[in-house]
Order: sequence, then C-alpha cells, then structure tokens
Amino acid sequence: MMTIPATDTRLVYDGLAAHYDAFTAHHDYHSWIAALEEQALEHGLPGRRVLDVACGTGKSFLPLLAKGYVATGCDCSAEMLCRAREKAPNVALFQADMRELPPLGQFDLVTCLDDALNYLLSSRDLGRAFASASRNLAPGGLYVFDVNTLTGYATTWASTSFSEHDGRAFVWRGQVKAPAQPLLRATALIEIFTQAVDGTWSRATSRHAQRHHPEPLVRELLADAGFCEVTAYGQLPNGSVESGADELGHHKVVYFARRETRAVRR
Ligand SMILES: C[S@@+](CC[C@H](N)C(=O)[O-])C[C@H]1O[C@@H](n2cnc3c(N)ncnc32)[C@H](O)[C@@H]1O
Repeated sequence: MMTIPATDTRLVYDGLAAHYDAFTAHHDYHSWIAALEEQALEHGLPGRRVLDVACGTGKSFLPLLAKGYVATGCDCSAEMLCRAREKAPNVALFQADMRELPPLGQFDLVTCLDDALNYLLSSRDLGRAFASASRNLAPGGLYVFDVNTLTGYATTWASTSFSEHDGRAFVWRGQVKAPAQPLLRATALIEIFTQAVDGTWSRATSRHAQRHHPEPLVRELLADAGFCEVTAYGQLPNGSVESGADELGHHKVVYFARRETRAVRR
C-alpha cells in the first residue's frame, strides 16, 4: 500500500492524476461551466481569452474551448498537466504555483475551479493567489472561482462514500469530526483500488488537506488584490448556482470579481 502525504498538494495531485478523471467522472462539467459562462456574460465578460488556474487534467477549460474561447492553463502538478496536454495538445499549459504566477497574459477571464483555492492553508497564500490572478487579467476582466462552504465541510468532508468507474473503485473518507467552523482545516482521504491483469488488487491512499475561506476574508483579500464588483453565488450539490451565497445552505460559494480598471495597490 502506498500513502501520499498531504503536506505537498503538488505531490498529492501527481499521485492522483492517473485516476482523477475516473474519480470525477460523475461531475457534469459541461453543464457547470455552461452555467458559469452564462453568469460571466451577464457580469459583462469583455472577451474570450481565458486562463484556467489549477486547470488539472483540463476538465474545467475543455467546455470553454469547445465554445470557442482561447484557453491557457496552469497547474502545480506536472502529472495533471500531462493529462490535460493529451486532451488539448494545442492549448498553452504551464506548470506554475497559483500563489506566484508569472505574467502569462492579459486575460478577459481567469478561472480557478473545483475548490482548488481551498488547498491554500493560510490567508497570506490566498491573498497571493488573488494578486497573481489580478496581474494576469486585463483591466475590467473577470475572476471566477469557487470555494467550499461550512456546509460542504460538515457534509461531504465529514462523510464516507463509495464510487466506481472504469474498473477502479474509490472510497472517499472525509475526516471532519467537530462542527465546521470558519477557517477550519479539513482533511479527507481518497482510497483508490485498482485491479492488475493477474487479478490482484492494489490500494493507494491520497490525502487532501484544505482550509475554509470565509466570505468576509475573501472579500477583503480580493479588494487588496485590486478587485471590485464582487458577487457571491451559492452552489447546490447538483451544480446549479443561485444568488445569495449562504454558508449554511450551499455546498460551495462561486465568486465573480472584476479587476479594477485603474492602477491597484498590491
Ligand atoms: C480538485 S482539482 C481541480 C482541477 C480542475 N480545475 C477541475 O475542475 O477539474 C484541484 C487542482 O488544484 C491544483 N492546485 C492545488 N494547489 C495548487 C497551487 N498552489 N498552485 C497551482 N495548482 C494547484 C491541483 O494540482 C489540482 O489539479
């Protein structure tokens, strides 16, 4: 049995990369991203150049590519990027930490989806990720990201579930025991069972460590990074979003933030 430590998210995802698409096979990315695009257009999305930060295996940018967006992606995990590259060989993909992104372009839209930002375990790191996104947006461009709510940590991250896809079986073991509190740190294990051609089974365990980011903190750090017109929507488990984010009623909060057009303090 192999156990991958939680302390380094890059290593965690390098280890999970070969299984990520099977593990998330039941997520309807096309509907989710289509709903987010519709909201982004309502928020005045100024163009079609998109940077998908923490793009993983490409699931979060492929639906935009199919709609005619010009996509660029980045992620800290070389193995996740490898899978993205196989699916989208013409997309520019960079290995980079979202806390210290180099200038990759002046994008109309920067996305960071599927609770990638919850892997940042301090307010300082969250602020650095926001500043990195801001630097890569054209003035007036939109930043769209989601974070897990207290309800998400009190339910999904506190429970055990089983799924299987493509000959592999997954056991998700949320480790949250106490009532979920703002800023809580949460861990979960994903146990991956695979069967070799000789019929023997092997198990690998992937450990995930996250932190809850409460809305007042998110708004303060967004303002510091030069964002204005911040709107928070609540997301339900089926992926639909509704106005008025509620930590206790929604599983995720999806933020839409506009980069200020004037010079920003950073
Ligand atoms: C749950 S996956 C989401 C991937 C993709 N956005 C999707 O929706 O399928 C989280 C991703 O965040 C990436 N990630 C976590 N911390 C990161 C960091 N500091 N910098 C860049 N990527 C990071 C991981 O490597 C992983 O690919």
